[in-house]
Amino acid sequence: MRRDFLSLRDWSHEDLLKIITLGMGLKKEYQQNRARNSLAHKTLAMIFAKPSSRTRVSFEVGMFQLGGHTIFLPNDELRPGKREAVSDLARVLSGYADGILIRTFSHDLIEEFACYSSAPVINGLTDKCHPCQALSDIFTIYEKLGRREEITLSYIGDGNNMFYSLLYGCAKLGINLNFACPPGYRLAKEIIVDAQQLNAKISIKQFDVPGEAVKGADVVYTDVWTSMGQEAEKEQRLRDFAGFQINKELLENARDNCLVMHCLPAHRGEEISAEVIDGPNSIVFEQAHNRLHVQKAILLELL
Ligand code: CP
Ligand code: NVA
Repeated sequence: MRRDFLSLRDWSHEDLLKIITLGMGLKKEYQQNRARNSLAHKTLAMIFAKPSSRTRVSFEVGMFQLGGHTIFLPNDELRPGKREAVSDLARVLSGYADGILIRTFSHDLIEEFACYSSAPVINGLTDKCHPCQALSDIFTIYEKLGRREEITLSYIGDGNNMFYSLLYGCAKLGINLNFACPPGYRLAKEIIVDAQQLNAKISIKQFDVPGEAVKGADVVYTDVWTSMGQEAEKEQRLRDFAGFQINKELLENARDNCLVMHCLPAHRGEEISAEVIDGPNSIVFEQAHNRLHVQKAILLELL
């Protein structure tokens, strides 16, 4: 049956673990210079309504390494919902391409597209979530810690698309989550409750003070305070997020060897200090590079 990769909430623990395990094998093959041609003659169409470096390049390279190829489609060209109905575009494009990657604003648009697409649809980020990034991040956490149990991730910052996917990723894959988001920037309580109900074995705890949330964490994670599309709110956000920066002082409350993660692009000096992102605890570049392996696993699983 055709499957889409729209949100980690839709995927079972077993299936997500299967992708991670496949990604680990693909990473090994890549390091040993071994190639797979499993996606020969397959095409991934990629629609981007927002800028991207990592997502675009890692998917393009990933498809190429698997023997397939990609078509990059800027949103201004297609204008789904404006030039033609989303449903019409979905029916047309999925008749040509074997998979469709979409990065857009509204999550409803990607869901509508998926409803009418005959090919699998992959979420390359919406305002609601960023599942490829979060799954890849959990791959990195497992790899760096060398274990899959008794892990605590502490998220500090905006209750945004990244946090949403990490929340469900942690719930599905058994990672404890501590978080501190400023008032007005927290996910709705029902979402937190929903994630907790998916897995009673983990704890999901909200903290008011970032220093408390990072205590004992294996991983400290942050994302930008101003996401793509929110630029007009930047000044207000800078004020509201004061005190939520990941910096050396904050990390004095955490374990000496805690891993520091950020999905990138980072706004250095805002949500994270340059000293920390370039410091010994930071694994942000390995984290970015692992997107390639995990997304290749997603492509193999879906296409
Ligand atoms: N982390 C991430 O998705 O990066 P891009 O916006 O550059 O794709
Ligand atoms: N929250 C960020 C993530 C970028 C990968 C954004 O949506 O801009």
